[in-house]
Formats: sequence, C-alpha cells, structure tokens
Amino acid sequence: MTDRPPAAIGQYPRTRMRRNRRTPWSRRLVVETRLTIDDLIWPVFVVDGEGHREPIESMPGVERLSIDLMVDAVGEAAALGIPAVAVFPYVDAGLKTTDCAEAVNPENLVCRAVRALKAAHPDVGVICDVALDPFNADGHDGLVQDGVVLNDETVEMLCRQAIVQAEAGCDVAAPSDMMDGRIGAVRDALDGAGFTDVQVLSYAAKYASAFYGPFRDAVGSASALKGDKKTYQMDPANTDEALREVAMDIAEGADMVMVKPGMPYLDIVRRVKDAFGMPTFVYQVSGEYAILMAAAGNGWLDGDRAVLESLAGFKRAGADAILTYAAVLAARLLKEG
Ligand code: PBG
Repeated sequence: MTDRPPAAIGQYPRTRMRRNRRTPWSRRLVVETRLTIDDLIWPVFVVDGEGHREPIESMPGVERLSIDLMVDAVGEAAALGIPAVAVFPYVDAGLKTTDCAEAVNPENLVCRAVRALKAAHPDVGVICDVALDPFNADGHDGLVQDGVVLNDETVEMLCRQAIVQAEAGCDVAAPSDMMDGRIGAVRDALDGAGFTDVQVLSYAAKYASAFYGPFRDAVGSASALKGDKKTYQMDPANTDEALREVAMDIAEGADMVMVKPGMPYLDIVRRVKDAFGMPTFVYQVSGEYAILMAAAGNGWLDGDRAVLESLAGFKRAGADAILTYAAVLAARLLKEG
C-alpha cells in the first residue's frame, strides 16, 4: 500500500470497495493471505507415567500427557496434516536442582518422549525447547548464582542439552532462554557432534511477558521461579532491540527465527519479516490461548472463529509458521472448510 502512488487509489462512487466483497466466490478470489494446516506447530506437554493425562486448569482443552498418550495424540495431529510438534516436559519437583543436571540427562523425559515420537511418527518434525527452566530448582532459564542468572555457564549447559536432544532424534533445537551467544554456541556444538542437519529455531525476540503464566503452571516452573526474567527476556516496550537480537541470531546460524508472544507483538513479526526475509515463526503463547478459551468458554466469543482470526492475523503480519495450543482445533476447522 505505502509504495503505491495515491493516484492508484479509487474514488467513490466509481470505486465501491464493497463490490468485491458481495459474493463468496469473489471474496475467495481477493483473499490476500491464507492460513493453512502447513503453518501450524503444536506444542505438547509430557509427564511421566503411562496412560496418564492431567488437565491444565488455566489452559482449557490442554492436558499433560504421558509419553504413550502423547504419541497417540501426535498421531492424530499428523493425520490432520500438522507438520511438527514442540515438546515440553512437566518435570517432577524432585528432579529439579540448581545445577539443572536433569536437563542434560540422555534419559530425561524430553529425550524419552522424542525417541518414542520419532519411532512412531518419523515424518513429524520434532522441536525441542533448549532452556533450563523445567529442570531448574530456581525456575529460571539459566543457572543462578547469588541471584544472578549466569550467561556463559548457562550457554555451556544449553549446548549439552541440545546434543542429548539431538541424540534422541530431535529435528529442531529451539533455544528459548535468551542468553547471549547461545545460537552460535549451540550450532557449533551440534556441528561438532555430527548433527549438521539439526535445524536451529531461535526464540530470537522473546519478551518478558505476563502471557507465559499458564505455561509456567503447565510445566510446573511457576512455583519454583524466584523473581522475574527481565534480565534476559526483552522489555515489551522495545522494538529496535528485537531487530538487533534477530540479526545476531541469524549471523550466529539460526535457520528460523521466532517472535514471542504473538498477538501483542504483531508489529515485531512484521518488522522482522520485512528486515530479514527469514523464515519467521511466531508463538501464540499460553496466556493468549487462555484468553481466547476463557472468553469462548463463557460464551462471550465464538471460539472457533476467534482462533482462526487470531491465526490469520499472524499470517497477515508476515509469519511463516505459528506455534499454537489451538493447532489441532484449527487444523480440524481448516479441514472442514
Ligand atoms: C521457557 C519457555 C517459556 C515458554 C516457552 N519456553 C516460558 C518462559 O519463558 O517463562 C512460554 C510458552 C507459553 O507461554 O506458551 N523456556
């Protein structure tokens, strides 16, 4: 729009914008962006046990699933055509320590889940969060010493974590921790261990957001977390800084970059896409999902339509793929047409 001369803009009454909207066939012809099932990534929560499911109160319709049930659920998602899933663990409180040793245990819940997933559904992309928070007695994404979240020591752990995940069969390492320098370090570590084909999805512009609340319940890190994440996640007021974060992660070897949260940050998605032309993903986070579902559950919104509209907004803003807890719902709706 902005690069077109004003003369190309019509005047009423010769131009009537409603003409193109009058019929369904015409509306279909003038659609500018399209949401498809190919755009969807489904985040799943795994928990230890067998045949076990636990609802997450603040995320209606989302459950923590034991590995066997999660594998079945991902099978259903794959049958709908969803290309990839992102795995998040609910780690037993007894396994959370300040050195986060469980994060680099090749037999941890995430690694077991990834192995089971790749065995059952080899064609589904598996994305793993690279961050210490589910395993950390301090609840932070990094190691904490005297109240300070350590950067370089954390990055070393993240490299080891990415390697055990890659060994388990993970396709995409997705550092969500916002430590400095971790993308390059993780890339080098993966390459050094022979995993040159494992992709790196950087949570490049990740904000210190109130909208992560329900997720922290889901992975059980809310009660552990002391303080906030403002020394590593970004200030919601900033946008130039997001471009610097993204530029650095691209230079360090990110294959895709992500903006998170989604709905309050559509301007960032647009700026990142325009500035870099990179595969740009967006995360419709737990709090955004909770808002939609709570309103729908109260009968205040048509939940199905609101979900699809929110996802269309991401495509309009320039996103390529979208992580959303509503992925299965959206896929069903898109399939039904
Ligand atoms: C932490 C992580 C978070 C999410 C994904 N990975 C939360 C946080 O940074 O506290 C949030 C996802 C969501 O809210 O849906 N490594």
